[in-house]
This record gives sequence, C-alpha cells and structure tokens, in this order.
Amino acid sequence: MKPKIYISRKLPEPIVSRLAEVCEVKMWDKEEEPVPREILEKEIQGVDGLYCLLTETIDRPLLELGTRLKIVSNMAVGYNNIDVVAANEKGIMVTNTPGVLTETTADLTFALLMAASRRVVEASDYLREGNWKTWSPMQLTGQDIYGATLGIFGLGRIGEALARRASGFDMKVYYHNRSRKREVEEQLGIEYVDKGKLLRESDFVCVLMPFTPETKNYIGAEELSLMKPTAVLVNTARGGIVNEEELYQALIKGVIWGAGIDVFEEEPLRTDHPLLSLPNVVALPHIGSASVNTRLKMASLAAENLLQGLQGETPKNLVK
Ligand code: GLV
Ligand code: GLV
Repeated sequence: MKPKIYISRKLPEPIVSRLAEVCEVKMWDKEEEPVPREILEKEIQGVDGLYCLLTETIDRPLLELGTRLKIVSNMAVGYNNIDVVAANEKGIMVTNTPGVLTETTADLTFALLMAASRRVVEASDYLREGNWKTWSPMQLTGQDIYGATLGIFGLGRIGEALARRASGFDMKVYYHNRSRKREVEEQLGIEYVDKGKLLRESDFVCVLMPFTPETKNYIGAEELSLMKPTAVLVNTARGGIVNEEELYQALIKGVIWGAGIDVFEEEPLRTDHPLLSLPNVVALPHIGSASVNTRLKMASLAAENLLQGLQGETPKNLVK
C-alpha cells in the first residue's frame, strides 16, 4: 500500500508527480491562500507524511491528531513554525531545506541593504509621484555602501554568503554568533566581535540567525540605541528577532537611519502597520529565497526528504 501524504499548498506539477509516484497524494489546491486550520486538522489524521510551508503552525495539538504521522517536511530552512520537541517525543521526523537557498537569500539581503541605504524605493516613488522638478545637490542623498562596515548577527550559511558579497564592496565585516568560527574568519577576512561593538561600529547590521526563544527580541530599544544614527538595520531572518514597535520608535526618532525588512512578527503584514508609514523603511513580503530556481530546488528537496522518511531512510535534512 502506498503511504498517504497531505501537501498544504498547491505545488508545481513536477513535484506533485514525483510524490505521486510513491505516495497517495492529497493537496490543498490553492496557491495564494493557506489551508484553513480545520482542514489541516482533519487531513493530518489519516496521513503518514505532511508536506508543509512556513505559513502552517505545526504545534503539539495538531501533531497529537496525526496518529499515523511519521514525518513533517517543511519547505523552508527555518522551522520555527514546527514544535520539533513535540514531534520528536512522538517519534515524528521533521525536515527542512538548508543549503539550496543560501545564495539567493544572501542576494536579497544585500539588495535590501542597498535599497534602504540609497533610498531606492523612496526615490522611485518620488519620480512616479511627479515630485522630480530638478536635480539638486542634496536631493535623496543616502549612505555609502562601498568601504562601510557590515555587522552580521548569525554566521550560518547565509551570513557567510553575505560576507563574501561584502568583500566586493571593500567592506569591513564584523560578526557575532553563538560560536566563534575561526576558520571562516581567516578564509573571509572577517572579525568576531561582541554584540555591543558590532552594534556601535557597524554601518549596516544584518540579522541572519534562526528564530528561537533565545533570539526573540534580540534587537530592541537598547540595541538600537547603541547603533549609529546613520546606520541601517536589515532583517531577512524571521520577524520577532527584531522588536517591531521599538524599531518603529527608533526610526521616527532618528536613533537609526533606515531599515530593510523582509520578515515580520505577523505575516502577512497589515497594510496599516506603522512601519509602512515610514519612507526610510524598505519592506518586502518575505521573498528572501524567491528566485524561480531556488524555490523549485526547495520544493524538490522537501519532496525528497519526505520520500526518504516514508521509505524508512534517514532524511537528508533531519532536524532535531
Ligand atoms: C524562508 O524564510 C525559509 O526559512 O526558508
Ligand atoms: C541558513 O541556511 C543558515 O545557516 O544561514
């Protein structure tokens, strides 16, 4: 008998076909709308595997309903949407999609850094709204990137990829991480510093650590107050690592200069959110990994992890 799986969002056809070779597949057939919780609660009851996205909260009560469930495969590198402890207690495997999205997410992080510091979105709106009357000396002036200091919180794969990009801009790179990585320091010519020094001396502060109980509100009023008034904060990791209300206060008071944000405490972000009223914020709808190739690779890797788990192998990207 084929194992049964549920897929929580409409996936590209080749991925579904691949899964259907091995499994009996049921899928939430909408692309732009998440599966309602009640439907997920019902569907999880009969399946051996769940293929889900970061938009689904896979908590203990949901896992309790999955009495046959062997594996939850998340199509994302971050898995803070899944209660891994509860899953492991019940002998349910959890997998994610690291590696394939590293460069794409580092690209977007650098794009946000550049957009926020050179006011790209604000300047484009200025032109489109008919405000461009003349060229003038200090019109829409921003902050330099070339030769500036970049501070990276969280030196994982994406942090390292960001540091490599910075070398082309002749930037000095600081990082702070739970563990020091001396080999990487040497390889990339970057420097480990404490949290305070990183905040005080960086022109750009990029947040690239996973969201955990320890990193919740890792950047708040106190941290922001240490940053330079000309500094830009970029978050492409998870909302909640940066305290949004305190970031908003820092931005309106000129404590820091600008921000580029791809991830929010609550997604999708309400269009009346205070951060969206600020011209010095570049806000994006969680598109860090959104290139055609990378999203296909993530979808495919999540499928392979799911199949490996269902076929009694240890999945390539098991998380614990
Ligand atoms: C996207 O945010 C991911 O975690 O892959
Ligand atoms: C995520 O892929 C990271 O390790 O940065």
